[in-house]
Amino acid sequence: MIKEEEEINRICKEVIVSIRPDDKEREEVKTVTTLIIANLNNKASEMGINARAISVGSTARNTWVSGDADIDIFIMFPADMSEEDLKEKGLVLAKSVSERYEERYASHPYIHAYFYVAETEYEADLVPCFEVKNASMLKSAVDRTPFHNEYVVTRLSGLEDEVILLKQFMKCLGIYGSEQRRKGFSGYLCELLILEYASFVKLLINASRWQYGERIDLEGHGNYKGEDPLIVIDPVDPKRNVAASVSLYSFCKLIDAARDFLAKPDQKFFMPRAAESMIHAEILKLVKERGTEFVMVTFEAPDVVEDILFPQLRKAETSVRNLIERNDFRVYRSDVTSEGGKAILVFELLVWQLPKIKKHMGPPVTSEVHSEAFKNKHSQPFRIEDGRYVVEVQRKHTDVVSLLKHELKSCSLGKDVSESVEKGYEVLKTEEILVGLGYFFSGYFGG
Ligand code: UTP
Ligand code: MN
Ligand code: MN
Repeated sequence: MIKEEEEINRICKEVIVSIRPDDKEREEVKTVTTLIIANLNNKASEMGINARAISVGSTARNTWVSGDADIDIFIMFPADMSEEDLKEKGLVLAKSVSERYEERYASHPYIHAYFYVAETEYEADLVPCFEVKNASMLKSAVDRTPFHNEYVVTRLSGLEDEVILLKQFMKCLGIYGSEQRRKGFSGYLCELLILEYASFVKLLINASRWQYGERIDLEGHGNYKGEDPLIVIDPVDPKRNVAASVSLYSFCKLIDAARDFLAKPDQKFFMPRAAESMIHAEILKLVKERGTEFVMVTFEAPDVVEDILFPQLRKAETSVRNLIERNDFRVYRSDVTSEGGKAILVFELLVWQLPKIKKHMGPPVTSEVHSEAFKNKHSQPFRIEDGRYVVEVQRKHTDVVSLLKHELKSCSLGKDVSESVEKGYEVLKTEEILVGLGYFFSGYFGG
């Protein structure tokens, strides 16, 4: 063990120098942040808007991975202001400080802006929020953020490198980021994990023994009741699980990688794998070898943000999967994706074709009343099997494609997905797999 420990320390020391922002990067980011904040505050007083900008997120805490700086600035408005007012004034103010920006949406709209200082481009999120008394009195979902910042800033000093190592480790595993598409660990969650365990390596040692429903409560004040793989009570809001977005997959991926790294420490855990794409012929060849069949439902991706789209796609996936299996076909695996303006539900099937006949079970022969009703209802010949009446009926759909072409709309698909499917959809088989899914399939088959 001692030998491994030394090796781990050596690797972490080597890695951290290449992923920690150097003094120049930190200085520049700080300068740009200060500049944007001053501009926002000046414009606010010029426009007679009662608001104040603050720096939050990883750039306020020195926990960003070098080259990945996104400057997070929150514009705080008085809590007694109306939603509409906040939205309107917040956006006007945010737009006034940058020449290039786009409007984005989380729980409410914010501005993603670009700034140029000495030829270097910096990206910033300018997010309007309410300045509430405490985090449990929030008026909008982003109002907790200033409290998060305060909590972490005062405690994390000296542990920044540990957070940076952890973020890079998770990025390489593809489990960093709490967006619905990914369902991984957020930056704030990484910081809380380091506060709990004190170092990257101690976190891994603990994570390698985590059990489903693992609970971490830094302030010992949690009253969160939900069931999630990982529960990390928000230090500033006892009702909230900061890890609510961590999927079972991301949770297990971390546990598995922690064990791997501790047993065989290696720099490769911190090196991002280049995204690989499979060519069409490769995909077809592989599917042929597997002997399965792919059936995909594709339609125009509804015009909503990914955080709204992906939960609906997963809901649709589950309900279509149930439809397929209710009709006696067998799904081996399924997934969802969105690529080039299309949304796609993917099903890999063990059984995708069935004979015309279908067994329809009747009541036990011994139950006289039901037997009579059954025989009145079915005119075709019956037989007795295992003490019950059985008739043979004709299957409506003998293959999955026909089933989905005719009955997809009976599934509960989620509001926006459902509206999009109403306008039209296609059902494709293996040979018709869309080009442009090379990255998707590389991930699908790559684990
Ligand atoms: P970020 O996603 O930028 O995370 O959100 P981060 O902690 O700075 O980490 P990296 O290094 O950039 O990946 C910044 C802050 O904004 C809040 C989060 O709580 C976080 O503290 N936030 C972000 C929201 O409240 N809502 C959002 O939609 C996005
Ligand atoms: Mn950030
Ligand atoms: Mn951000």
